[in-house]
Amino acid sequence: MSTHTPQKLITSYDIRQSKGKKKLSVLTAYDYTSAMIFDSAGVDILLVGDSLGMVVLGRSDTLSVTVDDIIRHSSAVARGTKHSLIVADMPFMSYEISVEEALKNSARIMVEGQAKAVKVEGAGRVLPQVKAMVEAGIPVMGHIGLTPQRLATLGGFKVQGKSAETALLLIKEAIALQDAGCFSIVLEAIPEALATRITNILKIPTIGIGAGAGCDGQVLVSHDLLGLYSDFTPKFVKRYANLASCMKNAVEEYCKEVESGTFPTKEHSFNMPEEEIRELDKLLKNK
Ligand code: KIV
Repeated sequence: MSTHTPQKLITSYDIRQSKGKKKLSVLTAYDYTSAMIFDSAGVDILLVGDSLGMVVLGRSDTLSVTVDDIIRHSSAVARGTKHSLIVADMPFMSYEISVEEALKNSARIMVEGQAKAVKVEGAGRVLPQVKAMVEAGIPVMGHIGLTPQRLATLGGFKVQGKSAETALLLIKEAIALQDAGCFSIVLEAIPEALATRITNILKIPTIGIGAGAGCDGQVLVSHDLLGLYSDFTPKFVKRYANLASCMKNAVEEYCKEVESGTFPTKEHSFNMPEEEIRELDKLLKNK
């Protein structure tokens, strides 16, 4: 584990101010134990992503994740975090319907889920919601490009903004989100040349995932980075560990030791005073 010593709780204000000064590290987290490890390793932002639907709950997409799911996982992450900024995803249809719904659900995620900011996908029709949440005191992170909540209309996991025309639309969306008050924006699966241009145009930090090295920060799904999830691995994932095989080896060894009787040993067992054992055996005999 890193020897990095966290200094203080990072705020959305710090993230906004970091533009041009520091590259930001962002990682998804869904539970207390992982949050403690990632936080102590010095990750700037822990994202309670709706990717939890896939990597934790085993579903094929993110759509069925609920506000209650996000609240449960975000509060667990918060209990393990001392330093990183906690941003929680607003699930599918928890903010699209109306400004009122967006305010109600984001407030629950902040209060019950202990998140310090929320993330929404898309621009256009959600801009009034973003503006209202920011005005109400809820920091908002945007997310454009490949937006998994809109997979059905995007036609699958496809790189976005590859033509000059669609690239220009994404630039306009990024500016609109910044103007609506977002403190940073995730750029997912877009060409590096486009992400670099958006980064240069915006005054707020861009966080790339499959958007190249020109962004102000990078985000990965922790299960991908750690080699825990293999159902689907996008091209932009870099595996820094293979925890799946590490875990499998450990569990195989455990099964073997249980079967052979080499676990547990005296070291893992509790003692009882000899006279109590003799007394117990007497009681058993007299039964
Ligand atoms: O849900 C998630 O994990 C995300 C990241 C991939 C950006 O939105």
